[in-house]
Amino acid sequence: MITQESLFDPVPEAPDRQKSPAEGLGDLRRMSLECRQCRLAETRNSVVFGEGNPEARLFVIGEAPGAEEDAQGRPFVGRSGQLLDKILLAIGFERKDVYIGNIIKCRPPQNRNPLADEIDCCKPWLMQQLEIINPKVLLLLGRVAANTMLANTQSMGSMRGKLIGWNGFDCFVTYHPAALLRNPNWKRLCWEDVQLLRAHYDKVCPNG
Ligand code: URA
Repeated sequence: MITQESLFDPVPEAPDRQKSPAEGLGDLRRMSLECRQCRLAETRNSVVFGEGNPEARLFVIGEAPGAEEDAQGRPFVGRSGQLLDKILLAIGFERKDVYIGNIIKCRPPQNRNPLADEIDCCKPWLMQQLEIINPKVLLLLGRVAANTMLANTQSMGSMRGKLIGWNGFDCFVTYHPAALLRNPNWKRLCWEDVQLLRAHYDKVCPNG
């Protein structure tokens, strides 16, 4: 929601190419902490900018911070995050190897789904993170992240289990860890998805 007052809020600018990815992300993070472009600024405790390797080849994208993430200002640190860590470890990645972010940076009250105008306000920050980090492979967790990034309305079943090209990035879609906690039967499918991702990653990023 852009209001008259928020017209002068910080908006992400094109990254300065003279700067390293770490410096560029630092600048962007500082700007994002001031953002009050949507109603979530009223209720958040933290802007959860994202974290990880500024030069990661794999960028993991979730939906939105939950209560624990809002309290700590870090992505995926609650129960879903513990499961995400295990999923990544299963394919040989530690958190420090990858970059982890979300479609929106502030927690929606009661963990409701992000609203379309909140996504519209927030997505430019994520797009700038993608531009600065310039990963090769994206792992999109859950339908909200996948539908938002791929600009479609497809089901999980039709997006998972395959490589999807989008804007030069190689995308893989799988179940959100929170969905896996509710439906452990889907863990096998997630396992297949991330194995596929790893095999592809080793092909396109042979130097790790
Ligand atoms: N769920 C998400 O989508 N992102 C987080 O950071 C935590 C939980």
